[in-house]
Amino acid sequence: MLYPVIWQNDCVSLIDQTRLPNEYTVVQIHRSEDMARAIKTMIVRGAPAIGVAAAYGMYLGAREIEAQNHHEFIEALEKVAELLRSTRPTAVNLFWAISRMMRTAYETLGSVAEIKQNLLQTAQAINAEDLQTCQAIGDHGLAALPNTPEKLRILTHCNAGALATAGYGTALGVVRSVWREGRLERVFADETRPRLQGAKLTAWECVQEGIPVTVITDSMAAHCMKQGLIHAVVVGADRIAANGDTANKIGTYSVAIAAKAHNIPFFVAAPVSTIDFSLADGSQIPIEERHPAEIYQVGDTMLTPSGVDFYNPAFDVTPSELITAIITENGAFTAGELLKYHPQPVNTADS
Ligand code: MRU
Repeated sequence: MLYPVIWQNDCVSLIDQTRLPNEYTVVQIHRSEDMARAIKTMIVRGAPAIGVAAAYGMYLGAREIEAQNHHEFIEALEKVAELLRSTRPTAVNLFWAISRMMRTAYETLGSVAEIKQNLLQTAQAINAEDLQTCQAIGDHGLAALPNTPEKLRILTHCNAGALATAGYGTALGVVRSVWREGRLERVFADETRPRLQGAKLTAWECVQEGIPVTVITDSMAAHCMKQGLIHAVVVGADRIAANGDTANKIGTYSVAIAAKAHNIPFFVAAPVSTIDFSLADGSQIPIEERHPAEIYQVGDTMLTPSGVDFYNPAFDVTPSELITAIITENGAFTAGELLKYHPQPVNTADS
């Protein structure tokens, strides 16, 4: 099993995802500033993995704080939180994990040394829980997917695998569970322009486990559906609004539209921590915009003439009406059932 974020030898080891599939490198992170940089530069990426990494980043920052009283410690920890929050705006797991770490600090009434100890324990709990959560998502996905006479061919977009979580994966966790049950024929992986998480990371993970995988360019997905090559689409999520609208890697929305046009079920697999119940719908989800070099440059090669403008949103929002079900660790739910089973207060535009 692959673990992209590991606490060992008093620091965090991250698999450097910017170097895969050509090089398997592990970087060691000792300080919160380095963790913030690792998240921003996508050494670690994928919503749940970012959450786990940020939780450890909070502890790394906390252990350097010299304040001796609770109030000063919290003030200094808030600055660490601020830095980590500023790394990537869309994946809500980042903010969720940081809030949970802050809550641990607020609620520990003992000495500063005890707060630090509790922060490490909370980060480790977030890590361990995410792994269990992904395995539960895999099991529920198995039950939610269509029963076909032939083995399933599943299309996925981006990488929502072990690399994007504490391990096992969400969308790719479902794929793993289907594979282990002997019900999978193969995965179709969209290459996922511009950063190619599908071609580089999903394909690499599948190869590690012997799962048959076919990489296609993003523009081929609808054609493959029309040819009857795809039984179901399963993708991950970076943030799900209370009404089920789902932000995920740019291109997901086009896949959902194509799936609807071809009557193919479209599933989102994500932990409950990816649901942002404070947002009534997807229009309020902040969308990260990244550097245009991701579009115009591959290595040292320029792909476009000079004098061109670029727009590089890293995520899009798939409206809930295109989503067959959202598979969480608690089961598979339609968008309408989300609030029924996870009742939380929701901020509407006028509240
Ligand atoms: O920009 P990335 O690579 O962090 O985007 C990742 C995705 O969009 C994933 O699909 C999502 O975070 C779910 S990961 C389980």
